[in-house]
Amino acid sequence: VGVKPWQSDTGSASNGQLVDVDDVRALRDQFVDFMLGYKFAIDEVTTKINILREDFNNTHAYNPIEHVGSRLKSPESVLEKVRRKNYAMNLAAIRENVLDIAGVRVVCSFISDIATIRDLLVSQADITVLEERDYITHRKPNGYQSLHLIVSIPVFRAGHTQRVPVEIQIRTIAMDFWASLEHKIYYKYRGEVPPNLRSDLAQAAEAATQLDEKMEALHRQVDRAAEPKTA
Ligand code: GTP
Ligand code: MG
Repeated sequence: VGVKPWQSDTGSASNGQLVDVDDVRALRDQFVDFMLGYKFAIDEVTTKINILREDFNNTHAYNPIEHVGSRLKSPESVLEKVRRKNYAMNLAAIRENVLDIAGVRVVCSFISDIATIRDLLVSQADITVLEERDYITHRKPNGYQSLHLIVSIPVFRAGHTQRVPVEIQIRTIAMDFWASLEHKIYYKYRGEVPPNLRSDLAQAAEAATQLDEKMEALHRQVDRAAEPKTA
């Protein structure tokens, strides 16, 4: 698109070059379309999890899913990540590198439910695992625990089909409780958490693990008690 003569429909960029407003509009439309793919991917994964939840409710005595949440990364934080990680500033590079634009969080009742949900998702024919990080077996030094999957799923758009990455975080209520509060503290101190608080947080994570293990043991006892007695 050539530079048009000065008119009300054009603005002036900081380097003095004329900016075509139609170009800016086209770019904005492309970005909106780009983000929509991630929103649809969240809808797809959320539906999958809701189907599992409803199926468990219908056929089993208990439901391993406590709650499901999701978030679409804001355009600001997508751009912030691109700058922070030094990725190229174009949609193709963002698509390739920023794999957590779509995020879904599944909070489970017991530790053993995490693997159950993971396996039920990973075994679905349209889900491809791009990356898996087990911060439960290997918790982060600060105490953070969760199972992270980056999966790709097909999204059937009006004009085309695309595969879209989604970050799925699976954790227990105790892990979620810890992560939510740690996140707030981290932000309050802008990432510079004082050493005494850091060690308290690590201890709190240890307490959360003990609670999870205690509940898991209770859960097993209840399961055994509920088994039909054999003569
Ligand atoms: P980002 O650049 O932040 O996306 O990290 P990453 O690409 O190295 O991935 P990682 O698996 O470390 O973290 C992905 C997401 O997990 C984060 O965006 C948070 O939602 C969550 N997370 C990871 N580490 C922590 C942590 O220490 N505390 C809390 N509260 N959440 C965490
Ligand atoms: Mg992230």
